[in-house]
Amino acid sequence: MPRYVYLNNKYINYKDAHIHIEDRGFQFSDSVYEVIKVIKKKILDYDFHVRRLKYSTKELNFNFKLDKKKLYKIFINLIKKNKLNNGTIYLQVTRGVQNREHAYNTNLKPNIIIYTNYKNFNLPNKNYKGFKAITYPDIRWARPDIKTTSLLANILAATYASNKGAYEAIFFKGNIITEAAHSNVWIIKKNKIITHPANKEILKGVTRTVLIKIIYSNGLILKEKKFTKKELYNADEVFITSSGSLITPIIQVDSCKINNGKIGTITKTLALNLYKSIIK
Ligand SMILES: Cc1ncc(COP(=O)(O)O)c(C=O)c1O
Repeated sequence: MPRYVYLNNKYINYKDAHIHIEDRGFQFSDSVYEVIKVIKKKILDYDFHVRRLKYSTKELNFNFKLDKKKLYKIFINLIKKNKLNNGTIYLQVTRGVQNREHAYNTNLKPNIIIYTNYKNFNLPNKNYKGFKAITYPDIRWARPDIKTTSLLANILAATYASNKGAYEAIFFKGNIITEAAHSNVWIIKKNKIITHPANKEILKGVTRTVLIKIIYSNGLILKEKKFTKKELYNADEVFITSSGSLITPIIQVDSCKINNGKIGTITKTLALNLYKSIIK
């Protein structure tokens, strides 16, 4: 399988793609990223990803101007070159290279890395799968709304989850559920769909944004409000969303079975509607 990487205006071989040792992304996690889903060779939710990338780079004051058309072309080229059918595009922008010092120079030239990964998505067909999740304290920095590669707390949580045989680690702050290590979290109680408000305490997921539109267009009830760990355990249905996981059912949280360990009907309906909107 070919594996081309786009690195600073060049398409090169994966094994030849290298970054300077004083790149600030490498030394300080002074970098941002996006993961974009590709299904049947189609780039999904491009505008939302561009908007969030602009938000992240602006919040961190990167010296970065985004050429939306050029970036799209690069994505298309990589999909073709790498013969990608289903998978993700990974894009990372670092602030650039500088002699190691905490304070950054404002005129650095960002490093831009883009490549693709193959993925089998958890689609709502006969193989649709529900997973176990565990809860984990939200020990991240106070700006998870910026999509930075500063992900140590997320990787500790995700590894803990993986060691416990769980698919995802759901974060709690006090007794409030914020989101998860690599996804947004939703509960359903008495037909009401509930998720944490998109403030500075969570990442405003692109899949979350798209799903909210679907919820409204299907006449379902959405409450963007905080909910507790107890409400999570007692939910009728639980699911997570992300570009990599789409809508993935959670059928057990810690030792607590959700919906008797079965995928809920509203979750499945939402997943089908999301998939229909993707392949239309
Ligand atoms: C912490 C966190 N929250 C939410 C999400 C979901 O975001 P999106 O739907 O844009 O993939 C992600 C995705 O990586 C994430 O890392």
